[in-house]
Amino acid sequence: MPTVTMVGGGQLARMTHQAAVALGQRLRVLAERPEDPAAQVTPEVVLGSHTDLAALRKAAVGSHALTFDHEGVPTEHLRALVAEGVNVQPPPSALIYAQDKLVMRTKLAELNVPEPPFTAVESVADAVAFGDAHGWPLVLKAVRGGYDGRGVWMIDDAAEVERIVADQLAHGATLMAEQKVDLRRELSAMVARSPYGQAAAWPVVETVQRHGQCAVVIAPAPDLPDKLATQAEALALRLAAELGVTGAMAVELFETTDGELLVNELAMRPHNSGHWGMDGAVTGQFEQHLRAVLDYPLGDTRPLAPVTVMANILGAAQAPEMSMDERLHHLLARMPEAKVHLYGKGERPDRKIGHINILGDDVAVVREKAERAAHWMSHAEWTDGWDPHHG
Ligand SMILES: Nc1ncnc2c1ncn2[C@@H]1O[C@H](COP(=O)(O)OP(=O)(O)OP(=O)(O)O)[C@@H](O)[C@H]1O
Ligand SMILES: [Mg+2]
Repeated sequence: MPTVTMVGGGQLARMTHQAAVALGQRLRVLAERPEDPAAQVTPEVVLGSHTDLAALRKAAVGSHALTFDHEGVPTEHLRALVAEGVNVQPPPSALIYAQDKLVMRTKLAELNVPEPPFTAVESVADAVAFGDAHGWPLVLKAVRGGYDGRGVWMIDDAAEVERIVADQLAHGATLMAEQKVDLRRELSAMVARSPYGQAAAWPVVETVQRHGQCAVVIAPAPDLPDKLATQAEALALRLAAELGVTGAMAVELFETTDGELLVNELAMRPHNSGHWGMDGAVTGQFEQHLRAVLDYPLGDTRPLAPVTVMANILGAAQAPEMSMDERLHHLLARMPEAKVHLYGKGERPDRKIGHINILGDDVAVVREKAERAAHWMSHAEWTDGWDPHHG
């Protein structure tokens, strides 16, 4: 049975390992620290940095495919691995569109894919001129290395540009600016594609962000007109084929107040917007990612319930005194239908430490339950006032 190497030891690698176990495969991870979420659970851990070519080589030896739980590996290292015969999936020629937001925006423009107006920002003047032409506030982004909203700034005026752009450029960041889109909401169209070219799409989901990061996902996206759902799915499948993507890919989308779809960004790996499918779809994204990078036939993506809601467990501002284990015990007692996924991470404010999936029939009911459960797990507080000892 094959071994797959995943670069990165975070929760995505941890949950991919879980899927690998079921398929009889081994997942080897390149992790920075032994206490990383995936390094805690998989027996094959190479400790090292994803920016160190020697560590990447060591992790790749004898494995059938090398894949990623983040976008951070330098492109030149990936090219070197490919030249040495490592089966890198997705290939660096595709991954670049998930690594570099400016390369992605430029390519999508070439493909006539709808997206916000954008420009490269090499000086304070570039950003000010863009804001004057396209309206304030504008969105400034680090071209590489952003995640969970780090590397994204909403900027109101020229004075703020001066402060932030000058500071970022001084620290060596490459920047771009985008028009701030009037959002109705955010969506994600997830697909997986194999090197052979088979592709499969999950239903389009709604993603709810808080403080610039994903907090809740509703699958499928409630009240999304069929026309838009079909359009989003077709767009994601087309992008996967045209860019040569393999494995799972999330196309993050903006639904504008005018009912248009614009692409925000691409992620070529399992993605937070696909966690619902671990319990809510016939084939979840972690299993599908493994099948895709190994060029196996892909799995059925159909949902198992009319609605699945995923709520992230985010570290509270102050970690509660009650232990995580006791919180889990109370949750399971009160909500036996909750599917809990914990990542083995320490609690820090706003850090993604787990998620809850709830399946059901009614969006409002299911969402309330999932969010109540996640809030309980992070805060040891029931949002409906329930007292575990006097309930
Ligand atoms: N052009 C835009 N107009 C309006 N809102 C935006 C725009 N670009 C980004 N945002 C908001 O900022 C969030 C984060 O942006 P983006 O996805 O580019 O950053 P990221 O740090 O790579 O994100 P993540 O890793 O959380 O997906 C988006 O989900 C959206 O809520
Ligand atoms: Mg994003």
